[in-house]
Amino acid sequence: MGRVLSGMRPTGPLHLGHLLGALDNWKALQEAHECFFMVADLHALMGEYENPAQLRSFSRQMVIDWLACGIDPKQSTLFIQSEIPEHAELALILGMLTPLGWLERNPTYKDQLREIEGRDLTTYAFLGYPVLQAADILLYKADRVPVGEDQLAHLELTREIVRRFKFLYKKDIFPEPEALLTKSSRILGTDRRKMSKSYGNAINLSDDEETIRKKVQSMITDPRRLKVSDPGHPADCNVFSYYGLFAEAAKAAEARDWCENAKKGCTDCKRELGGLLAEKLRPIREKRKIYENDEKLLESILAEGQARASAVARRTLQEVKKLLHLIP
Ligand code: TRP
Ligand code: SF4
Repeated sequence: MGRVLSGMRPTGPLHLGHLLGALDNWKALQEAHECFFMVADLHALMGEYENPAQLRSFSRQMVIDWLACGIDPKQSTLFIQSEIPEHAELALILGMLTPLGWLERNPTYKDQLREIEGRDLTTYAFLGYPVLQAADILLYKADRVPVGEDQLAHLELTREIVRRFKFLYKKDIFPEPEALLTKSSRILGTDRRKMSKSYGNAINLSDDEETIRKKVQSMITDPRRLKVSDPGHPADCNVFSYYGLFAEAAKAAEARDWCENAKKGCTDCKRELGGLLAEKLRPIREKRKIYENDEKLLESILAEGQARASAVARRTLQEVKKLLHLIP
């Protein structure tokens, strides 16, 4: 039984892409592994430091999304990064042995500097983003880290830090963590681009029924189907791909028939899908409500996670400090 650690930055509500990508994967992992799932609020702050007002609420809302999707606080440890000061302390120590060149070469860093507009990310902390991530993983001596493709470079850096640590202090206290690559979910946003909060094309796990229906109604369909009497091409229609992901096979076959044989128009086809999706997400919405209405319950889950994570983190940091002659 390996130990798993993963994290997400709380930058806004989670959506269907998170459900079909990371969360379904986490849910499966928790059955067979000891899992730590972390709200990476310090990492979020590295990008959002100019505008932190919603950070705390995003963190809690994200934990509610996790719980509602079936992450089980009895099986897994759920915690908030900033509540465990050992993350910051180990990151500082690892920073001492991380060559600047490794960070400057990091492709994710270079991409983000280039792509992200309207925010000044030329900060000291942002360059060190992967060092904090290494601390997250190493504090728990995780040997498996489920991440998306965009995080592979960060994981490789963690592995390099582990090797350098071992070389410098002649002690093998950290396993080299392995990436468990999460296949990015195939779901596109309502406008056919990648589903993302920043594109405004996401269907969120916290959306109410009305909002889900409206968003589905706004979806772009087969651009060649202009009139109801035009036969459509399900393979070129994002709406149809949602049928594939969320509907029973028979229902998807029915939609195909409506489309290819021009039996129903897109508005009707989307109305069906809207209802179906709202129904499919109902258990998540209902479970969310339990935690929304019971702040004490949520706080007690987080307190327990904090206690469990803290005990492990404290032990690891002690070990490191001994090796570095900071403590006897
Ligand atoms: N950087 C990750 C992301 O943006 C989030 C993260 C922070 C993380 N610490 C982690 C992921 C440790 C895995 C392990 O997706
Ligand atoms: Fe897409 Fe449905 Fe319209 Fe066909 S009928 S193009 S599947 S929305």
